[in-house]
Amino acid sequence: MKKVKAAVFASGTGTNFQAIMEKDNLFCEIVLLVCDKPGATVIEKAKGYGVQEFVFLPNSYSSKVEYERELLEKLREKDVEWIFLAGYMRIVGQTLLDAFEHRIVNIHPSMLPKFPGKDAFLQAFQAGVNKTGVTVHFVDTGIDTGPIIAQQEINIYPDDTLETLEERIHRVEHQLYPQVINQLIANEKE
Ligand code: GAR
Repeated sequence: MKKVKAAVFASGTGTNFQAIMEKDNLFCEIVLLVCDKPGATVIEKAKGYGVQEFVFLPNSYSSKVEYERELLEKLREKDVEWIFLAGYMRIVGQTLLDAFEHRIVNIHPSMLPKFPGKDAFLQAFQAGVNKTGVTVHFVDTGIDTGPIIAQQEINIYPDDTLETLEERIHRVEHQLYPQVINQLIANEKE
């Protein structure tokens, strides 16, 4: 059976991208990596998997509309139907939201609506709470807002360091995100 095509958007290390690529029996084919940070480690990872990458410099465009129009062209050339944000540290604009309604998904390292934005695990760690988590949600115009698809709680222990907490969060993300991706695609086929 032909697999539906998807793109991953990422800005950094790409451990979530890697987890998606390594998932046994992923129900979609990742045909494009979009990255807004030349030099990001995720680009090398995409090359390793033979996934075509499109790297762009947002500042070299006059507006978000302008660069998202170009992204849209690339996505259409590749017949992309789903966009999975995996550490893409940029607000998605109306151009992409309109073209991919309910088809842009994000993962965030907290129990949203708690601790949105950057460094969510650091925010939780500094807040001194004993639980945080991971959220997968549909993307809307806000920062880490949009309807929640799945959440998993994670304990923060008194002897945790930022590193041990980050590691635990990543472990959960790497399991949860590929699972949710498969679930979304399976649901659509029903
Ligand atoms: C992940 O923890 C992801 O949840 C987070 O960025 C990290 C990317 O790591 N995303 C956000 O904070 C979105 N607001 P990775 O590059 O190793 O996958």
